[in-house]
Amino acid sequence: MTSTLQELTPYSGIEPDEAWAEEVRRLARERDAVLLAHNYQSPAIQDIADHTGDSLALSRIAAASDASTIVFCGVHFMAETAKILSPDKTVLIPDARAGCSLADSITGAQLRAWKAEHPGAVVVSYVNTTAEVKAETDICCTSSNAVDVVASIPEDREVLFCPDQFLGAHVKRETGRDNIHVWAGECHVHAGINGPELAERAAANPDADLFIHPECGCATSALYLAGEGTVPREKVKILSTGDMVHAARDTKARSVLVATEIGMLHQLRKAAPEIDFQAVNDRASCRFMKMITPAALLRSLREGADEVHVDQETAARARASVQRMIEIGQPGGGE
Ligand code: 13P
Ligand code: SF4
Repeated sequence: MTSTLQELTPYSGIEPDEAWAEEVRRLARERDAVLLAHNYQSPAIQDIADHTGDSLALSRIAAASDASTIVFCGVHFMAETAKILSPDKTVLIPDARAGCSLADSITGAQLRAWKAEHPGAVVVSYVNTTAEVKAETDICCTSSNAVDVVASIPEDREVLFCPDQFLGAHVKRETGRDNIHVWAGECHVHAGINGPELAERAAANPDADLFIHPECGCATSALYLAGEGTVPREKVKILSTGDMVHAARDTKARSVLVATEIGMLHQLRKAAPEIDFQAVNDRASCRFMKMITPAALLRSLREGADEVHVDQETAARARASVQRMIEIGQPGGGE
C-alpha cells in the first residue's frame, strides 16, 4: 500500500450505468458481500453501497455485519480498521493504493519515541492512522467522538493526541484541558480549506449556516468569526461528516457553506434537497477517495481484490483501542 501524493492512475474506463449497477449487485450477492462507502466517495459509489457514512458509523456497521465479505469503498486505513474488528471476515478495498496523507503523518516508530518522552500519558489516535500506530494507542477516536473520548480520560492524566493538529486544537478547545499534547500532522485536503477563504464566503452569504469538519485549517477561524460577531455563533457547526447529514435535516437555514471534502455534498443534497449546499473550497477533492472508481469496484468484486491483511499480533493490539472507540460517544451517522 502506498499513499504518497505522487500521481496514481486509478482503474478507469467504465460508466456507472444500470448494467454496471446490476453487475455490482449480482457479484456482491454471489460473494455474500456488504458494500460500505464513505461520505467522500463519488456519487455512483455512494448510491450503489448498502451503507454510506462517516468513519465511525462504518466501523460500527462493519463490526456488526453478518456478511462474510466487507467491500470497503474508502481509504486504506478504513478497510484496515474493518479487518482489525473482523479478523475472520474477508475485507476488500477496490484499490489498495488509496492511502491518506493524514495517516501518513505519523509512523509507529515516531509514536513510540513520543510516548517515551511522556511516560504515563494516555495516547488518543484519530482513526486516520495505520494499524501499527493503532497498536501503540490506548483509545482511537473519530471526528464524531474525539471530544467524548478525551473527556472520558481522568482530568489529571496527560494526553498525547495524534495525528491531526486541527482536530487536536478543536478537542483542546471543547474539553478546556491544557494537558493535551497535539501532534503536528494534517490532511492536505482539509488544511487547504483556509480561514480567509471561509471569511470571504461567509461575508457574501450572511444567512448561511457553516458546516465545518474539524480537520479543516479554517475551523479555528470559523470560531473566531463567531467570537467577533461576524457570523452568529449558532450558525457555526463543527461536525463529522455523519453529523453533517443529521444537521442538514435539522437546520432551518436555506443555504449552507460546507467546509470539507466535496464528496460530502452528495449526501447533504440527498438529505435536504431544498437547501442550497455550497463548498467553501470546490477544489477540496481527496484523490485517494476518488481512486475507488466504478471500474475499481467491479474489478474488486470479480477478482476478490485487493484483500486487506493485518498481521495477527498488530491486529490484536490495535483491536483494543478501536473497540474502545466504537464503545464511546454517540453513533456518528450512517445510512
Ligand atoms: P469522518 O470521520 O468525519 O468520516 O472523516 C474521515 C476523514 O477521512 C476525513 O477526512
Ligand atoms: Fe485522508 Fe484527507 Fe483524504 Fe480524509 S480527505 S482520507 S484525511 S487525505
